[in-house]
Amino acid sequence: MDCFIHAAPLQGLTDYKFRNVFAQLFSGVDYFYAPYIRLSSRKEIKKANLRDINPKHNVGYTLIPQVLTNNSDDFLKVAKYIEETGYKELNWNLGCPYPMVTKKGMGAGMLNNPDAIVNLLERVCSTTNVQLSVKMRLGNELPGNILEILPLLNDFPIKNIIIHPRIGKQLYKGAVDLDTFEKCLNLTQHQIIYNGDITGIEDYKKLKARFPGINHWMIGRGLIANPLLPEMIKLNSDGYPVHRYKLLLKMHDLLLYEYEKFLSGDAQIIMKMNEFWKYWSYNFQEANKPLKKIKKAKSLSKYNQAVVELFGEYLN
Ligand SMILES: Cc1cc2nc3c(=O)[nH]c(=O)nc-3n(C[C@H](O)[C@H](O)[C@H](O)COP(=O)(O)O)c2cc1C
Repeated sequence: MDCFIHAAPLQGLTDYKFRNVFAQLFSGVDYFYAPYIRLSSRKEIKKANLRDINPKHNVGYTLIPQVLTNNSDDFLKVAKYIEETGYKELNWNLGCPYPMVTKKGMGAGMLNNPDAIVNLLERVCSTTNVQLSVKMRLGNELPGNILEILPLLNDFPIKNIIIHPRIGKQLYKGAVDLDTFEKCLNLTQHQIIYNGDITGIEDYKKLKARFPGINHWMIGRGLIANPLLPEMIKLNSDGYPVHRYKLLLKMHDLLLYEYEKFLSGDAQIIMKMNEFWKYWSYNFQEANKPLKKIKKAKSLSKYNQAVVELFGEYLN
């Protein structure tokens, strides 16, 4: 079966610690994307990004770095750095929906300016040897933007285009617009990767039935909530493996161990873990009490007690 799974970048979640733990315990992901690099006001790549994409921290899986910018100098600076570091591909973020970004004409905020996209690509493609891929939404305010942009992208040597079929204004809410996504497929000669709201095998099957020509799928929140999903999709398996909760606990424990080493103070560590619990709680739908205790824990000992209580209800 031709099916490739791309693990979406999620700022604050899918850093190298997450990726390493994921790759150690689960399978099915063909490509991981690093959360975006945006240059600092001093036009430098931030330390956290350098650490995140350091090849020594990313062993055993394929990582694709990502850049968020509307400026070709900044783009080329990041492209040069990642090329020197040994990466072959750079993904361009044209989808970030947050007003702090879009108001500056970056991310989804660039989608209503096709000329600026073309100008940047002309300069970047004629300067760097790094292969480009693009991650975009349908538009920022209007889903029609993408229909204007895709034909223009046919002129450039782009590896693939990841489409998240929402507009920026929706953030991550409301329905994905599959009708506009379908229109996109006739307008591009590039390989398209579908991205959006795949949270279970049923979602994948429905999408595959409607878009049989798509072989590349990007999964973000669904993969954090259910790290077994890529494997289940590839095995075409409807049921969860028996060791589901054992693996989730292992993932939790390994991540907690990593963040305990890296962050300081119980509050910071618990806050970080709670970012993951927003998604993991999906696996524990009948366990409101211990989930609440995890959320409210003020010390790591209380936090750990609540985690033990929660898993105790699911592991036997
Ligand atoms: C908390 C969060 C952080 C994100 N960070 C990034 C990012 O750094 N770069 C990017 O291209 N997309 C980012 N995204 C968007 C995801 O990569 C993905 O496109 C989106 O979640 C839709 O896919 P999903 O429905 O499978 O989650 C982020 C999304 C969330 C919820």
